[in-house]
Amino acid sequence: MRIDRCNNIGDFRAMARRRLPGPIFHYIDGAADDEVTYRRNTEAYEQCDLVPNVLAGVESIDMSTTVMGQKIHMPLFCSPTALQRLFHHDGERAVAKAAEKFGTMFGISSLGTISIEEIGSSISTPKLFQLYFHKDRGLTNSMIERCIAANFDVLALTVDTITGGNRERDLRTGFTSPPRLTLKSLLSFAMHPRWAADHFMHEKFELPQLKDYVNEGSNISISVGDYFNTMLDQSMNWQDAVDVRKKWGKQFCLKGIMSIADAKRAVDIGATAIMVSNHGGRQLDGSRSPFDQLAEIVDAVGDEIDVVCDGGITRGTHVLKALSVGAKACSGGRLYLYALAAAGQPGVERALGNLRAEIERDMKLMGCRSVDQLSRDNLRFR
Ligand SMILES: Cc1cc2nc3c(=O)[nH]c(=O)nc-3n(C[C@H](O)[C@H](O)[C@H](O)COP(=O)(O)O)c2cc1C
Repeated sequence: MRIDRCNNIGDFRAMARRRLPGPIFHYIDGAADDEVTYRRNTEAYEQCDLVPNVLAGVESIDMSTTVMGQKIHMPLFCSPTALQRLFHHDGERAVAKAAEKFGTMFGISSLGTISIEEIGSSISTPKLFQLYFHKDRGLTNSMIERCIAANFDVLALTVDTITGGNRERDLRTGFTSPPRLTLKSLLSFAMHPRWAADHFMHEKFELPQLKDYVNEGSNISISVGDYFNTMLDQSMNWQDAVDVRKKWGKQFCLKGIMSIADAKRAVDIGATAIMVSNHGGRQLDGSRSPFDQLAEIVDAVGDEIDVVCDGGITRGTHVLKALSVGAKACSGGRLYLYALAAAGQPGVERALGNLRAEIERDMKLMGCRSVDQLSRDNLRFR
């Protein structure tokens, strides 16, 4: 299959599955326990119907929005995700450049495989850095300082990974970062020779935000769950979030807020945004989906803070539904990761292009010229 035949995220997923060694595909595709929350994240959108208006003069539409102080040209941005050079040798470079082409925000993870400095100097569009709060405060502080120096726009503190989720596909495949060289993994690389050649012929895999502080993840193979459990600080609390916000001093977001109480507390500590998210179903299985929880959160804090709906998005109509409820923007991970794995930057561009075309077409079909015309009047829940 070629990327110009990939018309939706399922097509890219199928391509990624063929190209990647099994453990790496399942690391992207998998989620926690029985993956109930993962499935619900998308299914929630299907419990809600759009009610279009017509005869609205929609020859040109404006889908731009401003979120976390950043004007973005489409109301969907790239959530931060770890380890991207495992999926494609260009990794975050490819995603950042594709996001820049579409004028949307690019999020890079603490467990990213390209440095903060390189991303800072290579794109001019909005950049978000996702912070994991490490036990080693020197490491946590160094990432914040590097983001300030590299002129990042937004810092997002992830608050839903206080311990590793039970990702049983990873347990089954033995997924580690970097991949452990065993007979089984070597066999799996041999069966995916293009991926293996690309991965091993390019620059050495490492985690540049961490490597001066820890070897785990860059040189020592470790599962992501073990990384969370041993390196991240389980004592992290609201005061720590305040301290991070103060040290950072710019647009500050809490990623992984689900309860009304926590959303209100985010306002109290001066966060500028929250990402309503369950980490793509990868942490607490059985937790509510972001779209199911969105209305309550918007009603509680939507006037005071930007609310982003993160996860489960596979279609332009999903974005329109979340914006109609009151999200300022949406974000997603797998929606560009499968495409990255399938074809690098051209793949991510094709995936974002498909979604942008869907959002534009769907706005026209909804009789809506700009995103602020979307409201709950456009929706009915079943
Ligand atoms: C492979 C993968 C790696 C991820 N790595 C991180 C990470 O390092 N930090 C983080 O805050 N979220 C991470 N996430 C969660 C995403 O930021 C986002 O919340 C999630 O992907 C949204 O769900 P979706 O994939 O259905 O769009 C990761 C998600 C995936 C799929």
